[in-house]
Amino acid sequence: MDESSLMRSILLRTKIPGPNSQRLIRERERHVPRAVFQVAPLFVAHAHGAVVEDVDGNCFLDFAGGLGALNAGHTPLTVVEAVKHQADKSLHTCFHVAMHKPYVDLARKLNAITPGSHAKKTLFVNSGAEAVENAVKIARYHAKRPAIIAFEHGYHGRTLLAMSLTSKVKPYKFGFGPFAPEIHRLPYPYVYRRPKGMSEKSYLEACLDHTREFFKTHVASESVAAVVFELVTGEGGFIVMPREYVRGLAEICREHKILLIVDEVQTGFGRTGLMFACEHYGLVPDLMTMAKSLASGLPLAAVTGRSEIMESVHVGGLGGTFGGNPVSCAAALATIQLIESMHLRARAREIGARVQSRLANLRKRCRWIGDVRGLGAMVGIELVKSRLSREPDPELAARVVKACAERGLLILSAGAHGNIIRTLMPLCISNTQLDEGLETLAGVLTGG
Ligand SMILES: Cc1ncc(COP(=O)(O)O)c(C=O)c1O
Repeated sequence: MDESSLMRSILLRTKIPGPNSQRLIRERERHVPRAVFQVAPLFVAHAHGAVVEDVDGNCFLDFAGGLGALNAGHTPLTVVEAVKHQADKSLHTCFHVAMHKPYVDLARKLNAITPGSHAKKTLFVNSGAEAVENAVKIARYHAKRPAIIAFEHGYHGRTLLAMSLTSKVKPYKFGFGPFAPEIHRLPYPYVYRRPKGMSEKSYLEACLDHTREFFKTHVASESVAAVVFELVTGEGGFIVMPREYVRGLAEICREHKILLIVDEVQTGFGRTGLMFACEHYGLVPDLMTMAKSLASGLPLAAVTGRSEIMESVHVGGLGGTFGGNPVSCAAALATIQLIESMHLRARAREIGARVQSRLANLRKRCRWIGDVRGLGAMVGIELVKSRLSREPDPELAARVVKACAERGLLILSAGAHGNIIRTLMPLCISNTQLDEGLETLAGVLTGG
């Protein structure tokens, strides 16, 4: 065995899926609805750092990070210890019945690390969708206005209100209507797909003009409580909202007293190279939603907002049985400490630069790579049938995801057309692992 193979993380002992995974897949097919989709055909035995081992002893490098929930990696030691320590003390009391300290400690921490020096308060719930639903409830209550503006290419979850805010029709919305009312949708500024021949500057001016016009053609500004948006679309395909547009949108919202709800469920906790994507823009939202990497995979989500907005809701108006579970809160406190002490934000910037440079080189050789873009370690590759037509190629993206899994790399697609490959690797990944994963991806993309 040569030295390079000793350093490798990917280790395939069987064809994928292996026999043990195949047996479990048959059980899964018998007992779990097909609507609960899968990206890769494997069952996990262990997962540590950036490596997942399946029940057949195959080791995969993870560029999917449990759908973006593992910025601090799989099973980080200090998080696992915090979970065990808290589990020994109490699993659940329900914060409404008997309060516990991890809830308050985590609220204090999020109030301190989210953008803005103003007074803030934090509510905990169970999922990103639930955080978005609660942010909308709070904004409507405070503003006493019914309407909400969301964006094309936005993704905010699968519960009724969150699904109504989500843009992509299939598979998220198709057949599940009627949807929640009073949701109005603006186009997301998508620089790569701007009209041919139009400069970026003119395009962004046109986007802002359309946003202003929206209050005449779609909904009265006095009826709008909030605009909900992602600064880098997650499921929408890693489209980065341009600075000029964010500045203009914030100005328009300030003028019309419309609250800004920034959805940091996928972008948060170091993924983009800063703790929150807002910080890249100097943007201070009124309300912010967080989930995914907050608690290293344990179910936990948060809404942090200006005190006066959060406090406007009557007693009993917010909450739930499991929201702010003590074990999840303990995991979150340890996760945030790890992100800070391991300098994972700086690491996300290094990872992003390495991935972007490697993919930019690959783009020169592959005419089916239309665009490479991203912020920090959130990098997307837009696959097209031709650079000239920019026609999306979702079939190629699906083949890439499948072939990567067969070669030991877990990776995801995204986008309205499903033609974007996205990277959400744990930020504790080593450069050797990163290069191995990128080599595997490059091999698949070049047909090698
Ligand atoms: C930006 C964003 N908001 C909300 C959600 C929904 O989160 P959850 O799946 O935890 O409900 C997601 C999930 O992908 C997301 O990326």
